[in-house]
Amino acid sequence: MELHIAKNTQELSENLAAWISNYIQEVLQDQPIFTWALSGGSTPKALYTLLTKEPYKLMIPWNRIHFFWGDERAVPFEDERNNARMAYETLLDVVGVPSENINVMRTDIEPEAAAAEYEAILKKYFEEGDTTFDLVLLGMGDDGHTLSLFPGLPIVHEKKAWVKAFFLKAQDMFRITLTAPVVNEAACVVFMATGSGKALTLKSVIEGDFDAEKYPSQLIRPQEGELHWFVDEAAAGALEM
Ligand code: 6PG
Repeated sequence: MELHIAKNTQELSENLAAWISNYIQEVLQDQPIFTWALSGGSTPKALYTLLTKEPYKLMIPWNRIHFFWGDERAVPFEDERNNARMAYETLLDVVGVPSENINVMRTDIEPEAAAAEYEAILKKYFEEGDTTFDLVLLGMGDDGHTLSLFPGLPIVHEKKAWVKAFFLKAQDMFRITLTAPVVNEAACVVFMATGSGKALTLKSVIEGDFDAEKYPSQLIRPQEGELHWFVDEAAAGALEM
């Protein structure tokens, strides 16, 4: 695991934009497309916006990037809580990613059907390769959740399915989410975490005993792939390392 500490969200986003751009160019020297699962939530917005500006807008071959999501709130696309909507607005529509390269978790059909359909798409993309996504970008909640893997929920123990839908009582909505197994087969996983509100949780996740029930972010341990944490000084405030 590699830890990257920046002064604040802006510096973190600048560092991560450069890092991702280099990584993409490296991967695309050996293969035709790059598969990237985007994170929802608010932390990645500054990063997505930066990627639409010089030099990244021209440096990254957007027509060779295929996009996915780590999870989705099963609300209409027009709903501001929809993760796909946020990514379209801040990145995908701005840089003009071809629509055939974008794989949203559908919220216009039953969540279970959307999860099954999404899993079939992923199996088609990844059935041949040794790894799944080239990059999975993740956030972490103050409670240690990532994707829609929330503490204490059965989804945390999913060992087989790649995509699941379930009703999240605490938010009175269905969620569609990638599971730990498919993320742990990725070539590279990058977490972003900022703010002092995440400092104690981050310390438990990174430096504490393994307790995935309490801290589902600990489930993410890529078998062959790389694991990176991009955090700001506020979120890193309780770390010993
Ligand atoms: C979601 C996200 C979720 C998010 C964390 C952190 O749909 O909510 O996928 O896992 O990454 O909750 O969210 P913030 O970046 O807003 O703190």
